[in-house]
Amino acid sequence: MPDVGHSVLVLIQRVGEDDWELVRDVRLRAVRENPQIFGASLARENRFVESHWRMRLRTSPTWIAVDDTGTGRGIVQMLQEPGSPIDDRHVISLWVAPESRRQGMGWALLDAVRQAAAADGARTVSLWVVDNNHAAGDLSVRAGYARTGERQALSRDGSLTEERYVLTIVPEQTS
Ligand SMILES: CC(C)(COP(=O)(O)OP(=O)(O)OC[C@H]1O[C@@H](n2cnc3c(N)ncnc32)[C@H](O)[C@@H]1OP(=O)(O)O)[C@@H](O)C(=O)NCCC(=O)NCCS
Repeated sequence: MPDVGHSVLVLIQRVGEDDWELVRDVRLRAVRENPQIFGASLARENRFVESHWRMRLRTSPTWIAVDDTGTGRGIVQMLQEPGSPIDDRHVISLWVAPESRRQGMGWALLDAVRQAAAADGARTVSLWVVDNNHAAGDLSVRAGYARTGERQALSRDGSLTEERYVLTIVPEQTS
C-alpha cells in the first residue's frame, strides 16, 4: 500500500474484549452521526449490553484510531463475510470522527486490516461502498482497492446500491 503522505501521527490500536467500553463509545458515535451509512444498526446496537460488545470483539478483530490525547476517533473491524471466498477478509464498521478526517486515520485503519489479512494468509480484502459515498470510494481506490462492478441494493433503502471493492494482497506487501 503506498504511503498516503500525511504527517500527523496516527496510533492504531488492536483492541480486545476488555476494551469493549471504548469500542462501544466510538461505534455508537459512528452509527448516531452517520445514519446514512450505519443507520440500520442504530436501534439494535443502542440496546447492546456488555456481553454483546464482548461477543462482537471476540468474533471480529477490531482496531481503534487514537489521537494524541488518547481519545478514540476511528474504528474498523474485519470479518469473514458469509458466502465470500475463504481467503477473503472483509472490512466493516470503517468510520473516522468528522473532526479527525483527512489526517490519514481512515487510511491507517484500512492498512491495519490489510496487514492482519495478509498475516492470516488471505489473498484479498473486500468492502462495500454505497454509491454516493465518495470519501470511502476515493479512499479505497487510493488504498489500492479495485471496483468490481458487483452491486447490491441496500437492505434499509432499496433505492440505493452499494458496490463491492476488492484489494489483492501482493506478497511484498505483507512485511
Ligand atoms: C471514509 C472515511 C473513513 C475516510 O476517513 P479519513 O480518515 O478522512 O481518510 P484519510 O484521511 O485516511 O484519507 C486518505 C485519502 O482518502 C481520500 N479521501 C478521504 N476522504 C475523502 C473525501 N471526503 N473526498 C475525497 N477523497 C477522500 C483522499 O485521497 C485522502 O487523501 P488526501 O487527504 O491526501 O486527499 C471517513 O470519511 C468516514 O468515516 N466517513 C463516514 C463513514 C464511512 O463512509 N465509512 C466507510 C464505509 S465503506
